Amino acid sequence: EDPALLEAFEARVAADEFIEPKDWMPEAYRRTLTRQISQHAHSEIVGMLPEGNWITRAPSLRRKAILLAKVQDEAGHGLYLYCAAETLGTSREQMIEALHSGKAKYSTIFNYPTLTWADIGAIGWLVDGAAIMNQVPLQRTSYGPYARAMVRVCKEESFHQRQGYEISMQLARGTPEQKRMMQDAFNRWWWPSLMMFGPPDDNSPNTAQSMRWRIKRETNDELRQKFVDITVPQAEFIGLTVPDPDLKWNEEKGGYDFGAIDWEEFYSVVKGEGPVAKERITARREAWEKNAWVREAAQAHEAKKQARKAA
Ligand code: ACO
Repeated sequence: EDPALLEAFEARVAADEFIEPKDWMPEAYRRTLTRQISQHAHSEIVGMLPEGNWITRAPSLRRKAILLAKVQDEAGHGLYLYCAAETLGTSREQMIEALHSGKAKYSTIFNYPTLTWADIGAIGWLVDGAAIMNQVPLQRTSYGPYARAMVRVCKEESFHQRQGYEISMQLARGTPEQKRMMQDAFNRWWWPSLMMFGPPDDNSPNTAQSMRWRIKRETNDELRQKFVDITVPQAEFIGLTVPDPDLKWNEEKGGYDFGAIDWEEFYSVVKGEGPVAKERITARREAWEKNAWVREAAQAHEAKKQARKAA
């Protein structure tokens, strides 16, 4: 790589300029962005499954309409992100193939099952809450198409978080049985939500370079800490107990100290051994295969349109 080009690129990044698809960029920048954006896209798409599972069982028409809209939003997020990743030169088919063959990762969080309606509250509140915490700084990521996609995604995501918190609040303030159900969901989703932010900084191979290139604007641990600090008071406000006996306010740092995360669990889920990992990938593969006719029909329609134009 030409050192002058590299220097000019790094100066633009340091000046907080956006890098655009046709601009020169180091191959490693292109590679890590393709990796991160495509994995982010896969997470949005696989993320439709745990909640989609409850659309037919939502407890009221209103809840059903909200959940349906929310799950559709996630599909939209996945599509913007695939488009953003495609501008870096990898086709959507290649990315999807990488997901289906197990080569590409998606967020660990979506490998846990949704056992009760309270899980839908917990996912909106905690999982979408963690997602926004991570995505708000990505609105200032150095790659223009990714940053712009994040603006709309964050707006929708904040609605998702509120709807989840509202479900959680209603259940937590409901009958003793509802409250028990909500506490149980909270217990199951708390630790996996903290894992979403990724390994600790001293064990995160990509963080240093991604911070330098301003792909990431905050580190995994910084975002995790912010998430804990915001979420603990929300739990207390609705009368839920955080399932962490070591959780303690630390006056000096102005944040909570929290217990040790089970990183062994995290790495085993990353490796594809999550509780419902097989079901998730099977569902995605089947959807791709069963709906091949939709892609074929769209292509045939496009070809007809082009032929008509040419005639
Ligand atoms: N689930 C699965 N894999 C993970 C997770 C996780 N929660 N956290 C980290 N990893 C993987 C990384 O992808 C990386 O593997 P790779 O090099 O094969 O890609 C490896 O673990 C080491 O982690 P890091 O060096 O910390 O990787 P990175 O700098 O990419 O940071 C992070 C990980 C924070 C997830 C980053 O990629 C990111 O901000 N991505 C965009 C947000 C996103 O993907 N959100 C998805 C969930 S939110 C939602 O979809 C609603």
